Amino acid sequence: MRVKPIRVALLGCGTVGREVVRLLRDQADELAARAGAPVELAGVAVRRPHKHSDLGELITSDAPGLVTRDDVDVVVEVIGGIEPARTLLLEALKGGKSVVTANKALLAEDGATLAEAADASGVDLYFEAAVAGAIPLLRPLRESLAGDRITRVAGIVNGTTNFILSAMAASGSSYGDALEEATRLGYAEADPSADVDGYDAASKAAILASLAFHTRVTAADVHCEGIRSVTAADIAAAAEIGCMIKLLAICERTPAEGDTPEGVSARVYPAMIPAAHPLASVDGAFNAVFVEAEAAGQLMFYGQGAGGAPTASAVLGDLVAVARNLVGGGRGPRESAYASLPVRPMGTVATRYHVSLEVADRAGVLASIAGEFARHGVSIAAVRQTGGGNGGDAAARLVVVTHAAPEAALASTVDVLAGLDAVRAVDSVLRVEDLGRKGVAG
Ligand code: NDP
Ligand code: HSE
Repeated sequence: MRVKPIRVALLGCGTVGREVVRLLRDQADELAARAGAPVELAGVAVRRPHKHSDLGELITSDAPGLVTRDDVDVVVEVIGGIEPARTLLLEALKGGKSVVTANKALLAEDGATLAEAADASGVDLYFEAAVAGAIPLLRPLRESLAGDRITRVAGIVNGTTNFILSAMAASGSSYGDALEEATRLGYAEADPSADVDGYDAASKAAILASLAFHTRVTAADVHCEGIRSVTAADIAAAAEIGCMIKLLAICERTPAEGDTPEGVSARVYPAMIPAAHPLASVDGAFNAVFVEAEAAGQLMFYGQGAGGAPTASAVLGDLVAVARNLVGGGRGPRESAYASLPVRPMGTVATRYHVSLEVADRAGVLASIAGEFARHGVSIAAVRQTGGGNGGDAAARLVVVTHAAPEAALASTVDVLAGLDAVRAVDSVLRVEDLGRKGVAG
């Protein structure tokens, strides 16, 4: 065993960092046995040192000084956000220190720069905790499936929104009431926008797509819609057709067709999924991700996607991997972006849709609406009308479920429908994902 300890600089000591410190201390002997050398804290950098007096001399507000110290081998970053995390990590990597980070926002915005800096110095960059908390997902994509061809990664990667949608489905409550409950119970942050507007899931989708398809995908490449506009009526409408609404992150390899080369699609939006699909029963703050690979078939990963201890578990796993590399020599897997596949525009992505309209209930209305779908090349799978029937000016609710159609065609159809005399309101347009077929039209 290497006698010289591996010295760790911890940047950030909040929800995740606190648990990293606890696990490092509680499991010191076991971690040393697994890593091949003791793993010790060299220092902990925070913004407000007075709040962390229990850490004694380890604590500092001088993060730039800590990451460049000669006695530091590994930097663990759990501050979050773009700056100062990016500058600190680039400084650490430039100085020959390996990095473990949970920072999905930074990785999704500028992971390539970090990867290049790690390569230039020949050190490790690990980030298992950045997606789906405790769930071992990135290592399987990067390592276990390195001999296979991944075709799709899709799932629930944001616990806050899954808690809200689960609560709405269970109680029939409104989005606002469910968000309030999530905030009261500590699942949603005071400013929940990164979660409810889908940005957190989009960052994770960018990281997943990059690893799965050996292609650099950034958060800006990911089509992103959140859950703010999902209503109790949408949840009830989903139930009427045997579905649940979930916020999905979907990353797909899209086949070459005609002049269009093979590409990738990465997107986040709320969608109806069959109630019988395993993702539909993922409740509360849990995460679950399906991976499909040509030889392996379907794999499902499930567990706690957030929280101090679960996330720290993933951080510690990375730390042991880095420590083993330092003890044994060599590096872990480097960034693999050789495929450089183009990201397909959202307009070409084909899904099924559930369109709910309030219409005048008179002769010819259904035909004119069906005609617009047909004119835009959108094939109707089912139509259901409720209400109306009293003649005169009575309104009816018309639900149209389509076969898979390109996003652009559906959007033009809805634009035209909204302008028809007979259509009083387009109440909602939601995607229906069966999560079992290729989803892009050429
Ligand atoms: P917290 O907000 O709880 O903690 C952030 C920590 O960073 C605090 O200790 C804070 O110091 C410190 N900090 C903030 N700014 C600076 C700075 N300029 N210099 C030095 N230290 C600073 O965040 P979390 O622990 O929740 O999240 C950390 C990371 O982990 C993020 O990237 C997040 O996305 C990721 N993550 C979090 C999960 C979770 O469940 N919380 C799950 C998966 C990933 P001080 O204590 O003095 O305020
Ligand atoms: N805010 C995130 C969630 C934390 O709700 O899942 C984990 O990234």
